[in-house]
Amino acid sequence: MEQGAFTADGCSVEVYRLLPPGDEPGIVHAAAPPGAPILELGSGAGRVTHALLELGHPVVAVDDSPEMLAHVRAETVCSKIEDLRLGRVFDVVLLGSHLVNTASEADRAAFLATARAHVAPGGRVLVEWHPPEWFDSVRDGQGGTLGEVDVRLGQVVRDGDLLSAVVRYSAGIRWWSQAFTCRRLDLQTLKAALTSAGLTFERWHTEDRTWFSASPEWPATPTFVSRGGQLSTMCVLFVISHTRSFRGGVLQLSLILGLVALIFVVATVLVIAEDRRAARRAAQRRQARLADLGEIDPLAARKLKLDR
Ligand SMILES: C[S@@+](CC[C@H](N)C(=O)[O-])C[C@H]1O[C@@H](n2cnc3c(N)ncnc32)[C@H](O)[C@@H]1O
Repeated sequence: MEQGAFTADGCSVEVYRLLPPGDEPGIVHAAAPPGAPILELGSGAGRVTHALLELGHPVVAVDDSPEMLAHVRAETVCSKIEDLRLGRVFDVVLLGSHLVNTASEADRAAFLATARAHVAPGGRVLVEWHPPEWFDSVRDGQGGTLGEVDVRLGQVVRDGDLLSAVVRYSAGIRWWSQAFTCRRLDLQTLKAALTSAGLTFERWHTEDRTWFSASPEWPATPTFVSRGGQLSTMCVLFVISHTRSFRGGVLQLSLILGLVALIFVVATVLVIAEDRRAARRAAQRRQARLADLGEIDPLAARKLKLDR
């Protein structure tokens, strides 16, 4: 049987074309301002993308599978999530499909860093994850029907925080399988990963706690602070290795650290100013979109007045 193309992480393109949109578009729509642009990371064949477009959201769909993206009727970007830097920000960044439960700490950090880099000030990152209790509930043979596709789990193996399994999809006489491994994260670990990426846990969006949002810390300080720390340390080492007298060394060190502090303060002011400008631009775009839709967003209108 011809199974069609598969993605690098083992998803069948055909399966994702057959699966119905389910609840996801409604959850995302409810968490987004009306008409808000959305960056969808790991969009697949557009199962959720197309429904979001119908709900009035311009979507930029990102995936590293050209075969998946060939079916998406929206702006697409073929890229690994971890490498993506569009130089644009969005009111909502969507990281669905439990990608945050990746077994690799480095990939998780990179996914969240990408989400942080593309979320507008005042926007939110919406994440779908497997909460810890899901890992206890998973059993061989578990599954159900999604549209015309029967979905069944098998070969479930637990190894500490890791859970591996094989999903078998079937539709009529056709079938596909996908092996995956994911990592259980407790809430503390999840929040720490968000914080490291410059995000703050905001709230749950579903009763079963499978969807949550995170907001960008303001301004994006973590990288900035660590760069400042690295620069100061390099200056200290430089002075120590180049001075002969103690007093001369202290004087030089004070001068250099004073200079670093000055650069740091100026850069902080610039970052804050840029964040404020980006927030104002995002609010203006939101209001223009709402005007197009014939609606008025009182919050955006108030914000614009305050910002002027
Ligand atoms: C499970 S599918 C879900 C697709 C879509 N979100 C949906 O719910 O229909 C995961 C998608 O994410 C993409 N993906 C996984 N890891 C990725 C990465 N590191 N960079 C870009 N795309 C990735 C895969 O190619 C695949 O299309």
